[in-house]
Amino acid sequence: EQALAPAGPLAGRHVLITSGPTHEPIDPVRYIANRSSGKQGHAIAAAAARAGAQVTLVSGPVNLPDPQGVAVRHVETAREMLAAVEAALPADAAIFAAAVADWRTASEADEKMKKDGKAIPALALAENPDILATVAHLSNRRPRLVVGFAAETQDVVAYAQAKRARKGCDWIVANDVSRRSGIEGGVMGGDENAVHLITAEGVEHWPRASKADVAGRLVARVAAALGPMEA
Ligand code: CTP
Ligand code: CA
Repeated sequence: EQALAPAGPLAGRHVLITSGPTHEPIDPVRYIANRSSGKQGHAIAAAAARAGAQVTLVSGPVNLPDPQGVAVRHVETAREMLAAVEAALPADAAIFAAAVADWRTASEADEKMKKDGKAIPALALAENPDILATVAHLSNRRPRLVVGFAAETQDVVAYAQAKRARKGCDWIVANDVSRRSGIEGGVMGGDENAVHLITAEGVEHWPRASKADVAGRLVARVAAALGPMEA
């Protein structure tokens, strides 16, 4: 056996993963965010590295250590995340687990906004770029396998199937992030997940499991879809 050649079902593959929330600044001390912890995306990055892949993890602000053996690019905003993803291409597979903020403020105040005793400020918003859709629609550098996530609170499978078509990705990992999901503490921020894998072939309902187990199962599926390395 060669000492340094990586082994495992993803050896020789580059896998790109996004994880965590994004923070969209309002002023120097305030931002728009969401409840994403990054646990699921980071678990996928760790699992892909254990499977022998070269892994690039583009992470928004999280309270998690960088996974072992993974190249981590730390970003704050959706626009920074898109730039880091584009810089990390090409990749064999890309998995977009980040909870990207859909909107940013139309402009960031240079100084802290102050109460002036008069009008309450209104936040004007602008739409962020869709990183998943951008990469899935690339004509030349599209990864062979593009996987999105879908966070839904109702009609989870139907909305996720529509999302798969709209975004042009191969698979969607759909999860119910409503308080009804039955997962203690909720999916966002919690340690467990129950997902539906939506592919061109149909829908698989995966049983509730730890985010680490969901990650391992997904990585095994990615390896199977990419197949063995050509000699
Ligand atoms: N996504 C992305 N860039 C965005 C928004 C979402 O890359 N600006 C990705 C997420 O990482 C995820 C997928 O798109 O893989 C779906 O995210 P989701 O928030 O469920 O879908 P949206 O298209 O934003 O629709 P909505 O939030 O309105 O349901
Ligand atoms: Ca969204």
